[in-house]
Amino acid sequence: GAPVRVDISRIEEGSILGPIPAWRGRPIFVVRRTQEALDALATLDSDLQDPNSEQPEQPEYADNQYRSRNPEVLVLIGLCPHLFCSPTPRLAIRPEPFEQDWKGGFYCPCHGSKFDLAGRVYIGSPASRNMEVPPHFFESDNILVIG
Ligand code: FES
Repeated sequence: GAPVRVDISRIEEGSILGPIPAWRGRPIFVVRRTQEALDALATLDSDLQDPNSEQPEQPEYADNQYRSRNPEVLVLIGLCPHLFCSPTPRLAIRPEPFEQDWKGGFYCPCHGSKFDLAGRVYIGSPASRNMEVPPHFFESDNILVIG
């Protein structure tokens, strides 16, 4: 599939674009994370299956807690690694029916897998891998290229 260009200047900080029906037929989410969201990622390690995202078959820049080239911008394939349903993004703190300490991320309605705002899967989820980061790079400050 052809690379997909996204103008991220139209995504406000703390908001999400997607799912874009885009790359190789797979939906893509682009999230502009706030500093608060980035700070929260560092506090979640003990709740996650693979906090440092050491799983194989992903770009090397996804191999860390932010899972992105630019920490502010998260790019994820919007498919649950369990059985490929579409997880719902949850940017806000504590939307019902989530627990009080939910710090945002993705929730898969099919069997309840839960992911943080880096697509890292929580312990106790049926999914056993983090959500996939597609290859991407920044052509300029505002132009993200996926693929
Ligand atoms: Fe997402 Fe099963 S497909 S939890």
